[in-house]
Amino acid sequence: MAKFPELVFSGVQPTGNLHLGNYLGALKRFVEMQATHSCLYCVVDLHAMTMPHDPETLRRTTREVTAAFVACGVDPKKNVVFNQSRVGEHAELAWIFDCVARLGWLNRMTQFKEKAGKDREAASIGLYNYPVLMAADILLYRATHVPVGEDQRQHLELTRDIAQKFNNDFAASIAERGWGDAFFPLPEGLIQGPAMRVMSLRDGTKKMSKSDPSEYSLIALTDDADTIAQKIRKAKTDAEPLPSEVEGLTSRPEAENLVGIYAALADEAKADVLRRFGGGQFSQFKNALAELTVAKLTPIRAEILRLNADPGFVDSILADGARKAQAIAKPNMDAVKDIVGLIR
Ligand code: AMP
Ligand code: TRP
Repeated sequence: MAKFPELVFSGVQPTGNLHLGNYLGALKRFVEMQATHSCLYCVVDLHAMTMPHDPETLRRTTREVTAAFVACGVDPKKNVVFNQSRVGEHAELAWIFDCVARLGWLNRMTQFKEKAGKDREAASIGLYNYPVLMAADILLYRATHVPVGEDQRQHLELTRDIAQKFNNDFAASIAERGWGDAFFPLPEGLIQGPAMRVMSLRDGTKKMSKSDPSEYSLIALTDDADTIAQKIRKAKTDAEPLPSEVEGLTSRPEAENLVGIYAALADEAKADVLRRFGGGQFSQFKNALAELTVAKLTPIRAEILRLNADPGFVDSILADGARKAQAIAKPNMDAVKDIVGLIR
């Protein structure tokens, strides 16, 4: 297959407070990628409409997530930081992909089943179609790498399937227009490291999630030092001391989760963390974890609060990002229209 220039794309939904899972699974890695790659980071406001939402809250959280990107270290001058709905081509390409993706593919999506709950007939069509829009987000820019948490793995596989089918279905037209044997790359997920699936602090078998009703289940990026320390102190653990080796974490989800969080925050391997804390009591390890978490999140929190008080600045970042995104999206969308036979 043709070689595509490396380009990073990722998105975060503006649905409430970002938490430690979002930070370790996504934002922290956005910052790492910007050192070596061209990156687009998108606040996916259209995705946030797939569940019932309040208009004023959506506007506020869109700005807040943008502020959190920047507070975590994403440089809006170096990267393209924007909100999805500003670039109409996302929705336009999603329609074209609706005509490429198969019903059977979407029926397998586990996130839809979780979010729709028991009364599937009452779910919005947008919720069902969510992964197709996500594929459009990524492929609109012909992005090759997508840093996300583990929960997005299945959506990325679908994205590759859609890209592959588009390339096959329109192979002749693609070649005729000089694009070689493929118009879309098959993007790769960057799902690596010790905290790709940060779990609830109350239950090590459940994902840390914005929608969890218990506030002790998650650490928000806007929690103050005392709140963070208290939540970690109260985090569920088991009665055993920490093991000295990674194998000892098997079947101990709470221990594994806390060690993973420490490792990710400290940029160490779990094995190194256990070499230091193995054999010791949880209380001691929790103190060290609280200290590390507070040290890493305190400057981010301060910057989020500062930026939340300056919506004009945040809006200027989004306006500038939308212009830059559009400049890439437009010619790609034009090419897609030509390939599929739409007159423009
Ligand atoms: P969302 O808030 O669902 O838009 O997620 C934004 C990003 O955070 C995505 O890359 C998710 O995969 C990632 N993410 C969300 N929850 C977690 C978690 N508990 N652990 C690791 N990554 C997560
Ligand atoms: N579905 C992702 C999530 O809930 C958010 C998202 C939308 C996304 N479009 C994307 C992530 C494109 C990566 C690339 O976390």
